[in-house]
Amino acid sequence: ITPRKPIIAIDGPAGAGKSTVTKQVANKLGLLFLDTGAMYRSITLAVLQEGIDLRDQEKVKAIAANSKIQLFANPIVGQPMQVLLNGEDVTTEIRTPEVTANVSTIAAQPSVREILVKQQQLIGQSGGVVMEGRDIGTHVFPDAEVKIFLTASAKERAKRRHADLIAQGQVAPDLATLEQEIAERDRKDSTRESSPLIQAEDATLVDTDGLTIEEVVTAIVNLYEAKVQNL
Ligand code: DC
Repeated sequence: ITPRKPIIAIDGPAGAGKSTVTKQVANKLGLLFLDTGAMYRSITLAVLQEGIDLRDQEKVKAIAANSKIQLFANPIVGQPMQVLLNGEDVTTEIRTPEVTANVSTIAAQPSVREILVKQQQLIGQSGGVVMEGRDIGTHVFPDAEVKIFLTASAKERAKRRHADLIAQGQVAPDLATLEQEIAERDRKDSTRESSPLIQAEDATLVDTDGLTIEEVVTAIVNLYEAKVQNL
């Protein structure tokens, strides 16, 4: 068996800047990147479209098992990954407030996680990838060479989410509402039983408050280079 190429796992709460940082690190190092949150969002959208109860774990599992998710790097710089759900472009639909408000309920279901984690492990099996999510360093690739836990204060994250939504041409709730939503999603993501959002013991904590994207990207690239040289 050929040893796989290195993997960078980037975990952390919503709005810490994971997507931007992941993409830029991947581009600098010539690696692939994968936004695993887009996969949980896609299943949430599929469930909402079917009109079934989001808490009906059997039905949700069937939808997760039968949905084909394809992810592509977006050709437009600064835009999220392009996502196809059963062949249909859902890049914009998976970012609506309705999906965002319901995704925690879907991501908390062990059967959904099992299906998506397997797909993520398959996508990353040869390595050479920067994968972002909540449980990459703890569950998906516990043997990742570089593990980052990226965070920022809720206030800072609300500001960034606000700017993102506007940049995407969406209606943005006010800052206080966003901060509250972010805190609520953090709480759900960190307290769920199945793979809660926690920092892996061997992850490097990067608090991005007051750092530029470039500073964060450089720090991660340096960590990777130091680590990979020593392999
Ligand atoms: O990163 P994001 O906001 O697009 O993630 C959407 C949701 O999916 C979020 O509530 C956490 C969940 N998620 C998860 O549970 N595990 C992952 N690996 C990625 C995302």
